[in-house]
Amino acid sequence: MVEAGTPGASWRFSDAEDCTKEAQRILRQNDRGGYTVPTPNIYPFQWNWDSCLVALGWATFDETRAWQEIESLFIGQWPDGMVPHIVFHRDDPGYFPGPDIWGTASLWGDRLAVPTSGISDPPLAATITLKLWRSARDQQQAKAAVERLYPKIAAWHRWFHTARDPAQDGMVAILHPWESGRDNSQDWDAALSRVPTDDLPPFQRRDLDRVDAAQRPRKEQYERYLSLILTFRGKGYEPKAIYEASPFRMVDIGTVAILLRADRNLRVLAETLGYREDLVEIDRWIARGESALDRLWDETAGVFRSYDLISGSFTDAITSASFLPFYGGGVKPERCTRMVEVLERWGTQSSYPVPSFDPGDQRFDSLRYWRGPTWAIVNHMIAEGLTGCGHEGWAARIAGATARAIRQSGFWEYFDPITGRGLGGDDFTWTAAMWLAWAKDFSPPNDSSEDAA
Ligand code: DGY
Repeated sequence: MVEAGTPGASWRFSDAEDCTKEAQRILRQNDRGGYTVPTPNIYPFQWNWDSCLVALGWATFDETRAWQEIESLFIGQWPDGMVPHIVFHRDDPGYFPGPDIWGTASLWGDRLAVPTSGISDPPLAATITLKLWRSARDQQQAKAAVERLYPKIAAWHRWFHTARDPAQDGMVAILHPWESGRDNSQDWDAALSRVPTDDLPPFQRRDLDRVDAAQRPRKEQYERYLSLILTFRGKGYEPKAIYEASPFRMVDIGTVAILLRADRNLRVLAETLGYREDLVEIDRWIARGESALDRLWDETAGVFRSYDLISGSFTDAITSASFLPFYGGGVKPERCTRMVEVLERWGTQSSYPVPSFDPGDQRFDSLRYWRGPTWAIVNHMIAEGLTGCGHEGWAARIAGATARAIRQSGFWEYFDPITGRGLGGDDFTWTAAMWLAWAKDFSPPNDSSEDAA
């Protein structure tokens, strides 16, 4: 792997302690009282998987606030168990598509306290809740929070395993690219091309007011994102109707892996809290998740891939999500070895792994959202998984690369995997959280060279 240099004057943080102080400042700055916005100028609401990961950062210096971060997310939970990917706690005109486009405010009458989006996000809450509980200094506070959270998280998992897996075989589907969190990944190109874009109302994106268009999804992708929302809205977001109507129905390898880990962690929560009657059902979910993971293995490429339920074929992309089964756990050792071989190759082609797309593929784009850049949160999950299956060396390399990118460039939404340059939104909450909860422990030593600041 190509190593970038040690911290110096050209680095944003030549001192690791300054970096930690800045990370805490960003969390406080982006705190809206019980929930944290990802970055105020681009994403002014609460995002689902952001909040789960951000809770890990809060826990390093304010445990009470960490629990609030998870609990506030469930204010937006739908009566059918779904936890939306955005909770619109307050109005803000600076984001498209806002609550008026989603049209969910009156969907559940007074059973839903706040407007939300109408799709979900990778289900991290069980995993993060268990992690926070195990490391909590205040065990009494933690136990009370977990007792409140458990039934809500279990209902969310039940929603995934029913609404999104009608065949009951573990091939849990996402119906919108945003549900994967990897909005414009090459994984979705073929399936998105099926989504019609005629008859769309005129709309104005707000993301391009703040971020260079070269780093964001293209217009034709936004048209398709909007088209899917309007289809779901037209069906009243009724789970069976939208599952059948959606021209985009994908088994995202990232979601399957994250859900599998979350199911295993939910089982631990159920057992510890005494929800014995839930164990049989959760065991069934875990068995199905393991079998789905097995089906998503590509023996030729030596990695896992996402799957298109409509065309009945694998995607032709290898993405950073292909490594998330490390996080899901239970991958056979010979498969882990094959996956690490792919990581090795990617590591020779990028100084700041893990890129979100194969750097050896001609479609690789080191700048554009989810089509090449490196993300601290995905790195964190891959590294946790690698540690769990005996590949601590690679876990430390990924953590070290993340720490170098942050020290060099600051708390950006994502990073160019070749240069470490920061991309997307600045002062980004989940990058700050990943520094606090993980990457700082793998940071290079402060510079002793002459050009240090
Ligand atoms: C966005 O607006 O870019 C978000 O990723 C959607 O969730």
